[in-house]
Amino acid sequence: SLPVANVQELASKNLKEIPHRYIRPEIRADEVLVNGSSQIPVIDMSKLVAGNTEYETEMSNLHQACKDWGFFQLINHGAITEIENMKVAADGFFKLPLEEKMVYAQQDGLEGYGHAFVMSEDQKLDWNDMIFICSAPESGRNMKFWPNNPTSFRPSLDEYSRQLHKIFISLVQSMATNLGVEFREFVNMYLECAQGITMNYYPPCSLADQVMGFTPHSDGSMLTLLVQVGEVEGLQIRNSGKWIPIKPLPGAIIVNIADCMEIMSNGEYKSIEHRAVVNSEKERISIAGFHNPSRTATISPLPGLVKETAAKYKAVKFEDYAKMFLNSRLNGKSTLDAVKICN
Ligand code: SIN
Ligand code: FE2
Repeated sequence: SLPVANVQELASKNLKEIPHRYIRPEIRADEVLVNGSSQIPVIDMSKLVAGNTEYETEMSNLHQACKDWGFFQLINHGAITEIENMKVAADGFFKLPLEEKMVYAQQDGLEGYGHAFVMSEDQKLDWNDMIFICSAPESGRNMKFWPNNPTSFRPSLDEYSRQLHKIFISLVQSMATNLGVEFREFVNMYLECAQGITMNYYPPCSLADQVMGFTPHSDGSMLTLLVQVGEVEGLQIRNSGKWIPIKPLPGAIIVNIADCMEIMSNGEYKSIEHRAVVNSEKERISIAGFHNPSRTATISPLPGLVKETAAKYKAVKFEDYAKMFLNSRLNGKSTLDAVKICN
């Protein structure tokens, strides 16, 4: 990524004019379905346990959510404390003076504090700053990018990472059951889950409806588990050509099917385009946990799912997929489209 201005600093200066690279009315012009009567499904994780009286119903709700929406809110997931602690630590980090945050600045990779996906000098920019940290496996952790201010940050992220990982495993197990494949098929394909966590900071913007917090994209991972600090809305998902604003339930985790899961499920589950908009008065912080295949894993539709239906996606090494994804500068679902087989 090329270095660009810190947006939190820009926003704090009460600018009379927003720099032109952030102005993008064309991508804000799409229709937004206000009061989206059809909110995303809510899945109760405590019911996804065999023996629960509502097990079958909830499993079926989960399957439907993955097929029809690609997004759902997960409740009763057992990670309330870890989420709360993580939110407090993330909030504390972004409140630090710029110099202190810059201690964790990106160096020559994606990890650290800065901006992702900036590839050229004339590229339009998102109205956010972020810190990206590789959190699992532990052997892949690079502690120089783990803030130790606030002091609760490292232990909070460590516990948050472990808890999210457990939820990821458990969801993939339920999805395997729903798809009629062995969980082992998934594990054989992703090898060891590589988890990365991005914390996004969206400052308020007086021209909120002219800027974009996060450009429309689908995620390159298998499953993304997202939480946000506070109640300010920002996430919107694309459904039937319109953008639907998501109203997070307190304590819920927003789960989305990402590209690798769409590929592995041979298109049965959908990776949905989404974006983040900015508020004119209030900041917003979101924390996205990406659950990726190992770098060396080769991703394709699961063998158990290509018996009757032909494979709809080409096999691709995750490492190569991730490269294509980063080079796409976030452009809707363009990376996924590139591995689709057109029959
Ligand atoms: C993202 O897509 O990673 C960010 C979404 C959000 O801020 O809600
Ligand atoms: Fe995303």
